Amino acid sequence: MTQLNQLFEADRAHFMHPSTHAHDHASGALPGRIVTGAKGIRIEDHQGKTYIDAFAGLYCVNIGYGRTEVADAIYEQAKKLAYYHTYVGHSTDTIIELSSRIIDWAPAGMKKVYYGMSGSDANETQIKLAWYYNNVKGRPDKKKIISRQRGYHGSGIVTGSLTGLPSFHQYFDLPLERVKHTVCPHWYRQAPAGMNETQFVAYCVDELERLIAEEGADTIAAFIGEPVMGTGGILPPPDGYWPAIQQVLKKHDILLISDEVVCGFGRLGSKMGAQHYGIQPDLITVAKGLTSAYAPLSGVIVGEGVWDVIDKASQEFGAMGHGWTYSGHPVCAAAALANLEILERENITQNAAQTGAYLLEQLHAAFDDHPMVGEVRGAGMLAALEFMADKDERRAFDPTLKVGPRVSAAAMQRGLIARAMPHGDILGFAPPLVATRADVDEIVRLARGAVDEIAAEVHGQPATA
Ligand SMILES: Cc1ncc(COP(=O)(O)O)c(C=O)c1O
Repeated sequence: MTQLNQLFEADRAHFMHPSTHAHDHASGALPGRIVTGAKGIRIEDHQGKTYIDAFAGLYCVNIGYGRTEVADAIYEQAKKLAYYHTYVGHSTDTIIELSSRIIDWAPAGMKKVYYGMSGSDANETQIKLAWYYNNVKGRPDKKKIISRQRGYHGSGIVTGSLTGLPSFHQYFDLPLERVKHTVCPHWYRQAPAGMNETQFVAYCVDELERLIAEEGADTIAAFIGEPVMGTGGILPPPDGYWPAIQQVLKKHDILLISDEVVCGFGRLGSKMGAQHYGIQPDLITVAKGLTSAYAPLSGVIVGEGVWDVIDKASQEFGAMGHGWTYSGHPVCAAAALANLEILERENITQNAAQTGAYLLEQLHAAFDDHPMVGEVRGAGMLAALEFMADKDERRAFDPTLKVGPRVSAAAMQRGLIARAMPHGDILGFAPPLVATRADVDEIVRLARGAVDEIAAEVHGQPATA
């Protein structure tokens, strides 16, 4: 047996993969792929084949692969001080510097950063803070959290509940009672027939008001949303959506948590989604782009209003009983500092704005008239194609045809990684923010070949709802 076969066998025998069909993987029906290296925007697999990674891993390797500067920073920090905890006021120079840098990236009014290792644990912290905030303010009933259908906020107990995708709830006894979901702001698929985008924003606002009235504003602690929905299908909101939603939340004294795990640190061509859409969140979640995934690190950015309450509460109730062993891990902080240094030095946010606009323009040029593509959409360096059986009638494909996954597989065959999003037939793009116009041309050319191939296969298939 070759070494490679042994490796695959061991993978099937002992590695439990996330979001993977257990039996197909264990039996070998799912072929699997061992990634052996990466440079720039390309990864290489066990066959020595290279792929353009037009999804930056899981929209996280924003500065591209193979940056030795970050590797060196990690190495130096690990040699100097691999770990010390940050409980009871302990600090390291890296985490102190990083906290100030993050506040510089955040919109005005943000005060402190609490650290975790993943987007999921950061959002768990967010919800605990929202509950703590209301308890110490003497409002023990103000605890429910509003999230949105098709939102993605992680896969923990409360974060899996916040996630508005049925596959994250089924067989897990989720969502929790305290989590309520409101309308997904995707005009193309979710707007009632005949509504224009402006009317649809008003509809989203009315639906939110209706839910708040139904539950009672004095029972609702917070609203959580991604500035641009990611995993739910890469869904930029219609114009005016965020300011209108924030107005409702302010009126009812409901905290706004902006989940910027994908949008933070330049992906939209702005520092964060909050600045991009002109909103002032009370709390912000960051992860992925904070280190470009060179090390696992997430952050909860706490606004001044929430911080004041925490500060005062500590004088009455003592220290908050919340902490992780690895909060503020110095090696991860060193990776983040090196990553932010590169982002700033190379004006990568600006590149995301400019090259992202070019990506969207080229996707429109290649797919607007394609019979299988109902919508081309995007914001910054995020874009998606939505496939429809009948675009004039806006009828989706029968899900059992698996059109999205087939297009993604056809792209992979051509050396392009573009993700089949889990809800609907959607091909998502989120290249590293360092991608160039030439890279974009290649991505669009390969995607076009893949879409054409599957369109030819499904041609004449009966359309369903
Ligand atoms: C917006 C958003 N929030 C939270 C998460 C969860 O992050 P993690 O997978 O690091 O737990 C993700 C992951 O993709 C995400 O996209």
